[in-house]
Amino acid sequence: MKKVINQFTTRAETYSASANWISDQNLIQEHIAAASPRGNGNVLELCCGTGMVGRNFAAAGWHVCGIDLTKGMAEEANRFFPCICSPAEQVPFLDGAFDVVVLRQAYFLLEDGQKVLEQAHRVLKPGGVFVFSQTVPFSSEDSPWLEHIHRTKQAQLREFFTEESLKQQLEQDFFRVREVRRLPVRENITRWMALAPEQTPEQQAEVCRLVAEAPEPYHSIHKVEVVDGEVLEDWNWIIFSAVRKSD
Ligand SMILES: C[S@@+](CC[C@H](N)C(=O)[O-])C[C@H]1O[C@@H](n2cnc3c(N)ncnc32)[C@H](O)[C@@H]1O
Repeated sequence: MKKVINQFTTRAETYSASANWISDQNLIQEHIAAASPRGNGNVLELCCGTGMVGRNFAAAGWHVCGIDLTKGMAEEANRFFPCICSPAEQVPFLDGAFDVVVLRQAYFLLEDGQKVLEQAHRVLKPGGVFVFSQTVPFSSEDSPWLEHIHRTKQAQLREFFTEESLKQQLEQDFFRVREVRRLPVRENITRWMALAPEQTPEQQAEVCRLVAEAPEPYHSIHKVEVVDGEVLEDWNWIIFSAVRKSD
């Protein structure tokens, strides 16, 4: 956990602007829609980072709390809703406290993902909704090259997930998927790397090169372009809306 804390402490200041997906309204609104038909209840955002998703739930009338392991990230989220600096493996709330739990783009970092899913299950009310999302490959065709890029970029990556393997994790013990949403978000890889101070300039250049010079079919599937020297591509988002197996 120490390495994850170090990485996100270094990134806390630049994090919110470092990638399009973080504040992309289409993506965030899909998370809120995935929580329906529950509405205006209590939401817990696990591993909330700077709280971009939670802020928008709050703006839509929900009561939001957050948890993040990294103090600098939790402090930023706390400007928008109450946020506790705590590991998601030990959620400091009572059983059944929330109508909705959200976990976006953090599962791949967790040492014990099943422990976090168990906590999400525990703090949800009966009939509550778990909104669980991450970037994944579009298909088996772009998967090997995407894994290569992610392993080059993210030293803290515990496991590389596909849509199928993420669903399997969710449904192993605690949840049943009731709905799946998929959408692409266009990313500027050059800006993403420039705002990743935990990377050396050589690592940043290598990630940009791996995308710009990606082999087929990755290049076509991700719609890779170099515009005015900046590398652009599509990322594939999967948003699971799940209910407790025990309901
Ligand atoms: C890629 S960021 C995503 C932040 C946020 N979910 C979002 O979508 O903008 C991952 C976040 O997970 C947090 N994190 C990683 N491991 C954690 C853990 N075990 N418990 C709580 N937070 C964790 C990090 O501190 C970081 O803020």
